[in-house]
Amino acid sequence: MEITKICCIGAGYVGGPTMAVIAQKCPHLTITVVDLNQERIDAWNDENTDNIPIFEPGLSEIVAETRGKNLFFSTAVDKAIEEAQIIFISVNTPTKTYGKGKGMAADLKYIELCARQIAKVSKDNKIVVEKSTLPVRTAEAIKSILDNTGNGVQFQILSNPEFLAEGTAITDLLNPDRILIGGDETPEGQKAIQSLVDIYANWVPQDKILTTNVWSSELSKLTANAFLAQRISSINALSELCEKTGADINEVARAIGMDSRIGPKFLKASVGFGGSCFKKDILNLVYIAKSYGLNETADYWEQVIIMNDHQKKRFADKIVKTLYNTVASKKIAFLGWAFKKDTNDTRESAAIYTADDLVNEQATICVYDPKVNEKKILADLDYLETRSSVENAKSVKSFEDPYEACQDAHAIAILTEWEEFIDYDWKRIYDAMQKPAFIFDGRNILNKIELQKIGFVYQGIGS
Ligand code: NAI
Repeated sequence: MEITKICCIGAGYVGGPTMAVIAQKCPHLTITVVDLNQERIDAWNDENTDNIPIFEPGLSEIVAETRGKNLFFSTAVDKAIEEAQIIFISVNTPTKTYGKGKGMAADLKYIELCARQIAKVSKDNKIVVEKSTLPVRTAEAIKSILDNTGNGVQFQILSNPEFLAEGTAITDLLNPDRILIGGDETPEGQKAIQSLVDIYANWVPQDKILTTNVWSSELSKLTANAFLAQRISSINALSELCEKTGADINEVARAIGMDSRIGPKFLKASVGFGGSCFKKDILNLVYIAKSYGLNETADYWEQVIIMNDHQKKRFADKIVKTLYNTVASKKIAFLGWAFKKDTNDTRESAAIYTADDLVNEQATICVYDPKVNEKKILADLDYLETRSSVENAKSVKSFEDPYEACQDAHAIAILTEWEEFIDYDWKRIYDAMQKPAFIFDGRNILNKIELQKIGFVYQGIGS
């Protein structure tokens, strides 16, 4: 089958950037990204590409270059499915909030809806690509829905998990460490795999394109995220020990990172990892292991989450304890709300949980984040349902100017590692704060010695 048209269902953090890069690298293909969310699609179509719904360095430029030429954003889901030879499914797969597997298993209702829609609309053979992160053997369920349409249309299902990291999505997509494609071992399956390989081969070297069976591909994505998160929890677990013993976690990380078997990346102690993926994917892995009776495997990986929750809680506790055991009516400035730098994504951000804990202690939180607005911040807190929206809005405010956010604060907490924080005029900030002026550097990005010279009481993580 000749591939000329691609459809991607889900215009989110994965669907948007991934398709923009494919459009740029494959001008011979027409790509339509569809979503049910009209507001999101309108934002993708905003005349000014600075207003697209997702902030990623380099993304708006690629959208400006390709949109309207061979990249389109639309809510006309059926039409895009019908016309395409390849359909990517990039919808969200959150943790279930109800029923069996609540709080652990992946909620596959959005995936199933996509499969049913594809089954209903398709009139000719198609390749369906799982781009979303899915539990092992999900392809089987999708296949069973697609194979029972009764209209003779043949579907090939491929697993092509996305390994991009938010904040560096565009560089990751342009120069991926690897592309993984899983498909059936039948001749038809191999043909489908080849069609997708041919797309990536437009810019990815052949030796970086791995092909495998569907189940190995699905499990590789969960495993990659579990390993990455495990490194963060491992270093964070040791950061607490450093604080007790007088060792410095930054020094420990540097020393072990030079061991080529360990490597230096992903060894930074922090307030804890966030983001939509790590927690959800590990919980999903734990759930799958448990469902096969592999309790030791499940417990092993669950500990990564337990440690991360502990690290977030410990940060809030440390703030309260250091501020003489009370933050009631005190003003705490938060620098950063996004779950990491260079993204406007706040899902599962440590900032949300730290703020929630401190508001429970009756603190007032003043937030500055270069890419996150007050509406989003309050929505994140409301989502926890700890208190009413009115109460959240009374306790948490957001500012467009970092100096204003820090004015009269008793303490500053660094929640995101935005680079601009490093270069602030810290003397000016210090002068405008209550004394003693505390800084809790949840990302270990500031210069401790310089800040102490100014007069700050500085506390990092793990030192
Ligand atoms: P997202 O929530 O940003 O985007 C998903 C989009 O799908 C939403 O805009 C939603 O409206 C749309 N959608 C849901 N059901 C739909 C339907 N039936 N028809 C049309 N549109 C529908 O999610 P995100 O972050 O892009 O993640 C998508 C998947 O990719 C998840 O499985 C995630 O685990 C995985 N992933 C995410 C990464 C990330 O960094 N965010 C990285 C790698 C994988």
